[in-house]
Amino acid sequence: MKMNLCYLFVEGMLVLLTITAALAGTQTVRGHQAALLIIDVQDCFLPRGSLAVSDGDQVIPVINKLREDFKDAFSLVVLSQDWHCPDHVSFASQHPGFNPYSVVNLTYNADGALCHGASVPSNFPYAVDCSNQPGSKLRVVQQTLWPDHCIRNVTSGGTSAEFSPLLTMKDSDVVVRKGYLCGVDSYSAFFDNGGFRQTELNGILKEHNIDLVVVTGLALDYCVYYTSKDAHALGYKVLTVTDAARGVAPGSTEAALEDMKNIGIELITAADLEGALQDPSKGANPGSFSFYLFVALGAVLTAFLVFKS
Ligand SMILES: *[C@@H]1O[C@H](CO)[C@@H](O)[C@H](O)[C@H]1NC(C)=O
Ligand SMILES: *[C@@H]1O[C@H](CO)[C@@H](O)[C@H](O)[C@H]1NC(C)=O
Repeated sequence: MKMNLCYLFVEGMLVLLTITAALAGTQTVRGHQAALLIIDVQDCFLPRGSLAVSDGDQVIPVINKLREDFKDAFSLVVLSQDWHCPDHVSFASQHPGFNPYSVVNLTYNADGALCHGASVPSNFPYAVDCSNQPGSKLRVVQQTLWPDHCIRNVTSGGTSAEFSPLLTMKDSDVVVRKGYLCGVDSYSAFFDNGGFRQTELNGILKEHNIDLVVVTGLALDYCVYYTSKDAHALGYKVLTVTDAARGVAPGSTEAALEDMKNIGIELITAADLEGALQDPSKGANPGSFSFYLFVALGAVLTAFLVFKS
């Protein structure tokens, strides 16, 4: 009789332990709501595109595999789409006398409207006269001039804004367009380059209670970089997957990586993602080897004790 009570006690403890382990594991998944952000994987940035990023197409299989391998870890997948007017202010073709890749100063008024000025011709349709505004209210934004690219509603040729047909897409994916205002560029999928207006991205992430974003895509030194930075500034934990991204130029890519590292963005490879998604302070993950080991051990011991008593 005494023996049986003792077994019962040990058995009860084991069951409790098993339940605790299971709860600890569940909490880890609740601990992070993760979203995968796929930045600008569009024809215009891919080989044969008008603003092709070297080896840009090599990000596609890496991103597709991430989606497949971590489909349970991502509660949301967002694709951003550069979506420019045919005469967008970031196009060198709109600035007589300037070549692609040169940098101009664009001036904006307090409302975020582009001002006519030295590098914005007086016939540019998306600019206003700011000569009567006090200089203190004006804001200068440096703009790199690009070849025409990612033009809205263009579906073929070098300037096509279409997503690559090789990229895995699902009906549940959310598409966030950016750069659709003709007078201001938008590298980040959150804010335009002047910080005047934001896209719907932050609202969508908040709606889904996302607190961690995994950033991939093109280009590492521009849109991936500024999206990662803004996500970090908005309070998300940010993991930027360097082998799921490619840069326009080596120098700016080095600088972007350095800056991201310095501000606390985690730079990882796709192979590191599993470890990086887990929060080591919260115990075993359901689905992880140690979690199943724990549950199995508890079950075997319980069965053994029940059988013996
Ligand atoms: C832009 O402004 C900077 C100083 O703020 C100046 O050095 C540079 O020459 C300007 N660029 C152009 C193209 O006017
Ligand atoms: C783009 O195409 C859609 C329909 O395909 C149309 O509704 C829209 O007006 C077009 N936008 C522009 C700016 O041409």
